[in-house]
Amino acid sequence: MKDTLLKNIQNSFKSQFKGEPLMVFSPGRINVIGEHTDYNDGFVFPAAIDKGIAAAVQQSDNDFCIAHAYDLDEYYEFTLDQISPLNQGGWRNYIIGVVAEIQKKGISLSPFNIVFGGNIPEGAGLSSSAALENSVVFSLNELFNLGLSKSEMILISQQAEHNYAGVKCGIMDQYASMFGQKDQALLLDCRTQEATPFKIDFHDYQLLLINTNVKHDLSEAAYNDRRQVCENVSKLLNIKALRDATASDLVAIKPQLLEEDYQKALFVIQENNRALEAVEAMKANELEHLGSLLFGSHDGLQHQYQVSCKELDFLVDFAKNSPHIIGARMMGGGFGGCTINIVKKSELETLQDTIANVYKAAFDKDCSFYNVNLSEGTHLVSM
Ligand code: GLA
Repeated sequence: MKDTLLKNIQNSFKSQFKGEPLMVFSPGRINVIGEHTDYNDGFVFPAAIDKGIAAAVQQSDNDFCIAHAYDLDEYYEFTLDQISPLNQGGWRNYIIGVVAEIQKKGISLSPFNIVFGGNIPEGAGLSSSAALENSVVFSLNELFNLGLSKSEMILISQQAEHNYAGVKCGIMDQYASMFGQKDQALLLDCRTQEATPFKIDFHDYQLLLINTNVKHDLSEAAYNDRRQVCENVSKLLNIKALRDATASDLVAIKPQLLEEDYQKALFVIQENNRALEAVEAMKANELEHLGSLLFGSHDGLQHQYQVSCKELDFLVDFAKNSPHIIGARMMGGGFGGCTINIVKKSELETLQDTIANVYKAAFDKDCSFYNVNLSEGTHLVSM
């Protein structure tokens, strides 16, 4: 599937532009646990997957750049000296955002053409945007020998997201997409940006993603609002980020907080602890315990952080009532996208049939299932 994608993108490039393009694949990501902790300098436990964005890039003889979104069959032409964020720019902002952030570092680029396409559904919460940003920065770095390190590149991608897409995201998505390793999830300390890889092998169980196929509006604004709440509480506590707070620190300033903000900050502190506990559970091969941490995470995301939605809650409730699913939660920013589930391998097919039916009956809508393979991060592809 990945090979077909790469071939299609390469062929599309060659049919429109001169020269042999440089080919890059940049994956999406899952996150086992540790949600909304990254911009609080906390811990996350993501992994790159075998679905993502393929990009074909080469220099242009013209004095402008052309970007072609293969899946949408849309084009965007721009010059390098006149870049600013576009209103409702969609995918265009990720490309010009990365270009602008490279330029901000005092690096000058030459005109280029790019064709990209992907196999992660947009809005699934699998970070197609981070995959796209990383594919652009990685391929420009190769093409023009910019000498940027991977750590510098993910910061460029993140800034593009902040300043061009308008989402004040943490570093999890860009990190996982760039640094992913085959079969491993990365316990990432978002403060130091150092990660420890852990092999994911759940024996009789496996990970299953279920896409609600919904993406609710205003999720960007809600995301930025929550980040602001966390920063405000940190300021009150006189600390750099909520990573440095305990639940009892928070109790001490509770009278100064709205109840809902107290709950949000408490969620972050608890979720950070859950991420660390999950790693211990995995090391000790205590899968039931790991599963219960996932359910706990969802509960907090639903009631305290308030970033879930009825479709996600429905799937997690189903999981709680199933003897063959030992843990489940919503994954990513929230308000739609996927749940991540730990399911019994031998029951996979039956479960999928049942869930498809009950979901359809409840929402008159199909959900989708993805088996994930943990894979390497953004890389060049020779073909
Ligand atoms: C989105 C953001 C990430 C992270 C998650 C929530 O995916 O891009 O930085 O904050 O939401 O964990």
